[in-house]
Amino acid sequence: MDPELWAEVDRYIGGALIGEDPVLEVALRASTDAGLPAINVSPAQGKFLHLLTRIHAARTILEIGTLGGYSTIWLARGMLPAGGKVVTLELDPRHAAVARANFERAGLAKMIELRVGAALETLPQLAREGRGPFDLIFIDADKASIPEYFTWALKLSRRGTVIIVDNVIRKGAVADAASTDPSILGVRRLNAMLATEARVSATTLQTVGSKGYDGFTLAVVTS
Ligand code: SAH
Ligand code: DHB
Ligand code: MG
Repeated sequence: MDPELWAEVDRYIGGALIGEDPVLEVALRASTDAGLPAINVSPAQGKFLHLLTRIHAARTILEIGTLGGYSTIWLARGMLPAGGKVVTLELDPRHAAVARANFERAGLAKMIELRVGAALETLPQLAREGRGPFDLIFIDADKASIPEYFTWALKLSRRGTVIIVDNVIRKGAVADAASTDPSILGVRRLNAMLATEARVSATTLQTVGSKGYDGFTLAVVTS
């Protein structure tokens, strides 16, 4: 376990494969300046989401957990120049205000719809409005409610929808069956659901890097 080395390698990968990105750097600085926690995806993870969007040719994306909009910008850019729409859900109005300014500066405001509120209220609202199905869904809000978010994601899906869930390893704590951490319990409940959910095929990859030791679940809706 060498978090310093993981971070150094992430810096190297960033330099080799991602490069300078003034729009994203300004977005991150605005988040830091506003006092938002630095829990956005890393550049390498952001580009991974971006590439998934492109590979899947996604035209409609749902994100649960906006923060300052760093991951949202990576996702939205994956749909350019073809056009498309991201709906992103955020509980905290202060986070939402920072994200909105970041979307404006990035020139992406027209393709991003930000809804403020608890996702367990805004998700049913989207369903009632007949929104979806979404091509790709990124679940990255509070971890205790991951199973409920996944259930809503399924309702807002079609066959072929890709669902990504962030932060499902938590320094390996997910393997602790005795954990009482609500975040871990959320992830373990998701895995129990996936074990019996015939409509989804999923895997989980562990990751190390500038965000430490964590991982994500990648799922596809099969029916
Ligand atoms: N996806 C972002 C990081 C999201 S951090 C990125 O990678 O750039 C998690 C976000 O989820 C925080 O902004 C937090 O305020 C938000 N959140 C927490 N609980 C929520 C809820 N119940 N509904 C919607 N958003 C929530
Ligand atoms: C936390 C949330 C995240 O989405 C993340 O990527 C890392 C940490 C957190 O709430 O601690
Ligand atoms: Mg996350």
